[in-house]
This record gives sequence, C-alpha cells and structure tokens, in this order.
Amino acid sequence: MNAPLPRSVTSGCPVDHAALRAPNGCPVSARAAAFDPFEDAYLQDPPEYLRWAREQEPVFYNPTLGYWVVSRYDDIKAIFRDHGSFSPSNALEKITPPSEAAQQVLASYGYAMSRTLVNEDEPAHMARRRLLLEPFTPEALRHHEPLVRKLAREYVDRFIDDGRADLVDQMLWEVPLTIALHFLGVDEEDMPLLRKYSIAHTVNTWGRPDEHEQLRVADAVGNFWQLAGNILEKMRRDPSGTGWMKFGIRMQAEHPDVVTDSYLHSMMMAGIVAAHETTANATANAVRLLLQHPTAWRELCEDPSLIPNAVEECLRFSGSIIAWRRVALRDVDVAGVTLPAGSRVLMVMASGNHDGRHFAEADLLDIHRDNAGDHLSFGYGAHQCMGKNLARMELQIFLEELSRRLPHMTLAPQTFHYLSNTSFRGPEHLLVEWDPALNPERRDPAVLGRSQPVRIGESSRAAVARTLRVEGVRTVAEDIVELRLAPADGRALPRWTPGAHIDLLCGGEGLSRQYSLCGDPADAGALQVAVLRDPASRGGSAWIHANARPGDLLTVRGPRNHFRFEEEGARRVILVAGGIGITPIAAMARRARELGMDYELHYSGRSRATMAYVQELAALHGDRLHLHVRDEGTRADYRALLAEPRPDTRVYACGPARLLDELAACCAAWPDDALRVEHFQAAPGKLDPSRELAFEVECKDSGLVVSVPADRTLLEALRAANIDVPSDCGEGLCGSCEVHVLSGEVDHRDVVLTRAERQAGDKMMACCSRACAGGRLVLEI
Ligand code: HEM
Ligand code: FES
Repeated sequence: MNAPLPRSVTSGCPVDHAALRAPNGCPVSARAAAFDPFEDAYLQDPPEYLRWAREQEPVFYNPTLGYWVVSRYDDIKAIFRDHGSFSPSNALEKITPPSEAAQQVLASYGYAMSRTLVNEDEPAHMARRRLLLEPFTPEALRHHEPLVRKLAREYVDRFIDDGRADLVDQMLWEVPLTIALHFLGVDEEDMPLLRKYSIAHTVNTWGRPDEHEQLRVADAVGNFWQLAGNILEKMRRDPSGTGWMKFGIRMQAEHPDVVTDSYLHSMMMAGIVAAHETTANATANAVRLLLQHPTAWRELCEDPSLIPNAVEECLRFSGSIIAWRRVALRDVDVAGVTLPAGSRVLMVMASGNHDGRHFAEADLLDIHRDNAGDHLSFGYGAHQCMGKNLARMELQIFLEELSRRLPHMTLAPQTFHYLSNTSFRGPEHLLVEWDPALNPERRDPAVLGRSQPVRIGESSRAAVARTLRVEGVRTVAEDIVELRLAPADGRALPRWTPGAHIDLLCGGEGLSRQYSLCGDPADAGALQVAVLRDPASRGGSAWIHANARPGDLLTVRGPRNHFRFEEEGARRVILVAGGIGITPIAAMARRARELGMDYELHYSGRSRATMAYVQELAALHGDRLHLHVRDEGTRADYRALLAEPRPDTRVYACGPARLLDELAACCAAWPDDALRVEHFQAAPGKLDPSRELAFEVECKDSGLVVSVPADRTLLEALRAANIDVPSDCGEGLCGSCEVHVLSGEVDHRDVVLTRAERQAGDKMMACCSRACAGGRLVLEI
C-alpha cells in the first residue's frame, strides 16, 4: 500500500506485518490488521475508531474480514458514484460465512434471498428503480404524514406521565416498524409476526453470530422468509390499494421481466429491514446525541424550525448505517491504492461524515451547519436510499413531538449497548427521565395542538435560523439604518468572511431579505448590516426601518458567502461600490488593508448625505478612497480607470445594475474572471410558462432522466424526482443550487456566475437556469 506506516505502530509489534500482505502485494500495517468492526469500540464511536485511518491510511486492507476499508469522504463518494467500477452485489451478502448447519436450516425453509435493488447491478437495477420510484417522491409521501404524527403522539401519550421511559422499547422500535409495514402495504393482522422475525435478518447479514446463535438466527430468518412469501401471496390476490409492495405487484403485471418474482419475495423481506431498523436506530441516535448536547436540544425546543437541519446533522454525526459494501469490477485506484478486480470494499460512511476535509470542525455537533445534508448516511448516486424522505419525515416528526412535549427530558445514567455488526448502529435501549409535574401540556394544553411543517424534498438549510438581539440602531445616511445584531442566547456568533450576507426575516409573514455584512469579521460581539429604505419595498426594508428597535429579537439565517474575496492570486484590487453596495465592499476593503494589498476603493453616490460610512472609510483608507459624488460633480470615470486590462488585478463591485453593466462593458477586454460582482436584485423574473420550453436532463449519478416541464424550474423537477439539491434564494442570486453540467448548452439566468464560468458551461443554477431551446443537459448529480 502507498500510505506510510506510523512508526509508533510498526515498531515493537510482535506481528510480522511484512508477511501479512494485501491482495495487491502491499504489506498490511498493524492498525489495518487490528481493525475489528465486531469490537465494541467500533460501534461505540465509529468515527473515532477510524480517526487514524482518515489521517494516515485512508484505504487499507483488513485480512480477517477480507475487505478493503475506505474512510475518507471524497473516496467513499467517488465509489458510490462509480457504478462502472464498483458493483453493489455484495451489499446483502453475509459478512460472516454461515456454518454448514445454519445453511441446512435456511435451506429447509427454501430461503433464497436474492437481488433486490440495493444489491442489483446496472442496467437491471436502474430499470427496476425507475419503475418503483414513484411512491417515494416527496409528493407521494405526504399522505403518510398524518399516520406518522398520530402514532408518535399516541406512543408519547402512553408514557408522558411516568417520568421515565426507554424510548427504544416504548416508542422508537415499534413506531417506525408500523410505518414501514404500512408503507409496504402489509395488513395490520400480519404485523406482529413480522416484528418478531425482522431483527434476525440484521444479525444474519451483517453480524458475527457464534455457532449456536447461527442456528437460532437461521431459524428466525427462515421463518421470516416464509412469512414474507405468504404475505406476498396474499397481496397478489388483491394488489389494489396503497403500499409499495402492492405497487410493485401491479408494475410486475406490466413489466414481468423487470419486476421479477424473485425480486418481490426478496424485497418483501429486505424492505422491512431497510425501512424499519434504519429509521428506528437513526432516531435513537439523534435523541441521544441531542440530549448529550443540551444547548442544541434547548435550541430545538425553543425553535422547532431548526429540526429539519438538525435531523441532517444528526444523520451526519451519528447515522444509523455506518458502513456499506461494494465489489471492484476491475483493477481500480482509490486514493492512490490499486485495488485488484474482485476486491471487496467496506466504505465506512460514519468515518467519511467526520472527515474534516469536507465538514469544517467535523467533530462538532452544529445543528446550523450549512452542508449537513451532504452526509453519506443515505449513500449516494444510483442506489441512494429511496426511502430517505420517508425517514426524514419520521425523524422530523419524532423529534418535534419529543422536543415539544418533553423539553425537560434528560438522559438517565446508562451504558449504551449495540448489536455487534458492521453496518447498523443504534443503542439497544435509550433511558430518559423527566419531572412529569413540569410537562408543558399540564400548564398549557395548547402545546398539544402545535405542529411544524415537515420539510422533505426541499433544502433543510433554508430553514435554519438563529435569533439575534438588536443591540444598536443608528442612522448612517439618509434613509439608511445600521443594525448591530448580537447573540440573544450567549451562543457565539458564526464566523464570516467579507462578501458574506445574512437573511433577515422581516415581520411575521415569512418575508426574508438578504443583507451584506459590513462590519469587522474580527468583531465577535455582533453582526452589522446597513439597510436602505427602498421606496418600492413591500415589507422588507420598510419593515426594518419602521420596526427594528434596540432590544428586539430578529430571526436571521446565514451568514453565507457567494461573493468571496479571494485573498490569493491577485496583487492589486479595485473595489467599486455604488450606493448601498458599499456594505460588502467596505468589508473587503478592510481585509485588503489588513493583508497589505495594493487596493483602491471607489464609492459613488447621489450626494454625500445618502452615502453611508464616508467618514469611517476616509479614516481607515485615506487616499485609497475615491469618492464620486454626483451632486458635487465628481463622477467616476470607470472607462478610464479600467482602460488597460491588467492580469494582476481583480475588480470587485456591488451596486445597481446600471453600474455593474457599465463595469462589465469596461472590463470586456480584461481576463475572464477579473470582474466579480454582486447584484442587489435578482435579474431573472418569474417563470412564465407561456414563454418557456420543456427540456430533459440526464442525471448521471442518480441514473435518472428527468423532464422539466415549461411551468417548473429544474430545481423543482429534480426534487420531485427525489434528488436532493440545496437551495436558498430561489432566484439566481445566491449560488447555493449550483449543479455540475457534463454536457449540453445552458441558458444561464442567474447573476452568480462570471462570464468565464458561463463560457466554460460546466455549472448552472438549478433554480432559474434552463437548457437552451430544444436542448438536453447531462448533469453530474
Ligand atoms: C438504500 C440508508 C431508510 C428504502 C439505502 C442505502 C443506504 C440507506 C446507506 C444504500 C445506498 C447506496 O448503496 O448508495 C438508510 C438510512 C435510513 C433509511 C440511514 C434511515 C435513516 C429507508 C426507508 C426506506 C428505505 C424508510 C423505505 C421506506 C431503501 C431502498 C434502498 C435503500 C429501497 C435501495 C435503493 C437502490 O438500491 O436503488 N438506504 N435508509 N430506506 N433504502 Fe434506505
Ligand atoms: Fe440561490 Fe439558486 S437558490 S441561486
């Protein structure tokens, strides 16, 4: 293997590692040889258990298991993405080969678990997945919401007055199982037996049962298999009505070669496990994690709008499927290590989810995390979990019910136990306690009636908000007020960089507006924005001017930065601001000064009275500041300033469209990326279906072709097809819905991409941009 062996580990170890070789001939390091996923430490804290691997040996061979173990985010995602080089055919293979006797027991039941979806190769897999996808789309899942809420409430009702509960035994095991069975279309009367047998499947597939246990498990799995067959037969007699398995039976009538008998029987069994244990474990992990982080728990209790993103962060931090398998179809390179064809691969997603190369401060639980939804806990690509949105719905509702009715719940002292296996992780019990006298519903029965909208098929980060206190309001120019916003709860403010903005919620109507941060990023005490009263305002700036007073609490999202100030690569910087566009530019100028860059700051306005921060800027920047004041006759001459293209210079500008258009014209002969701009308003208008054309996109990673009708955006069409895409502004301003384009011509309608980026044609904003007339796009998603 290419990765060097850590000295401390190789020296003094009694095992001759040079003698232990991986199938590619490389010696196996001591730690690689010692990796044991059946050891308690692995399940107690998988990312910690593999920290050394992420840091020193990201891909290693473990001779005991006969698997290559992959631990970094990018490598795992690349394997999920590459179905040409990696097959999922071993995903449901028994990781511990069954004993002769256990095989006989299974055979006596006619056990013939075979390909379902998760372990099927292309092209058979995708043909089947496409036919069976519809019941999983966010739209189709909506009708499950009332049942999930009803069950969650009823189960909490049963123990709310007790003051203590084992949440796994008393709620989190049964409720997801009942929902899974409903989702599949199983009758109530068949549920009790299925409940009894389903757990055996996990041990059978991913565990290391001893001789004796193997027989017991084989017996239960055999029973489970027969029962699944009987239930399927019953469904076949009347396949009408709701339920994914019934839907599958109906699809079989039309496409018997795609939806086969063997598939249906195997899926009847595997589907229960896929939908049940995963979600039960994920909820138990999430509740435990949040109670171990009381600040995060308190925040959720106070502001349930944080729940959707908290769910993603909990799945990242402590997911319920921690590892998944593939087989290499050819010799293939992973992080510089050549895995020979036939290599079996264990991707430890729990480790990838804690990879600091992808997640900043990865070991910190941060329910506000911007990219929490990038986690690998649902897999990625063609096989990505089809049930992810049902799981999200359940997790969101369970957390909402528990945080609203039992905000005072705490973890009881206990040791957490896990079922020994490579892949499924959740505590066997979760003991919590509280004082029933303090139950909020005893004081205020209205608590029971409240509920929070479930967010599936949309960006969870759009819902992430924090409450800040208005610390100061100051008029900084005619019609411009500056707000200083400080933490309301003692929690540290998020860090930000010049060019970043926050979204401010204006009033109770859900109206949000974006404002650039204009203070000093080093000021940990407050965020600072300056807001111009827009005469055409329908509630944004007018609301702030009329209502924001010191002491008020405001809801804020972000900061996010789509107008980054690059600190490297340019020696000279020209900063141009028009009117209120000074806000991001002022922060950039401060940074340029700190870095000792060669910069000039041009600031134009109607009159001095309308221009914010003139004195502060003059004091800080001296003669680097050039004021262009129309009523003083000192108008800017950008044509002259930018006449000579200079490869060592970058121009950053923010202001009205007129100014930015002028700068674009002046910079026409400059290097493509020299001019970076931020617009005040969205350029694109509302989608006008009468003037749009429908188009198709091929989604390479997901293996789907999605039609985008004239009356839908690409973003909407992707989400309706169960493909996650983050988003924020929804109008081409912020850059968060960027998708990679592999081929096809894009009709760009955003204001985020630079001219050079548009010409390169390898990315687009899904919320507004479309395919050029009659075109088809291929996306890497
Ligand atoms: C596949 C995780 C809930 C149905 C998968 C895969 C993972 C996963 C890791 C394999 C992905 C890959 O190979 O790229 C989870 C987790 C869940 C969850 C962590 C809960 C938190 C559900 C639910 C259902 C479901 C509730 C059904 C209602 C499926 C199906 C597949 C799958 C059908 C196979 C998809 C394919 O191969 O095309 N899931 N899952 N899952 N999951 Fe889930
Ligand atoms: Fe902001 Fe698309 S969501 S650009």
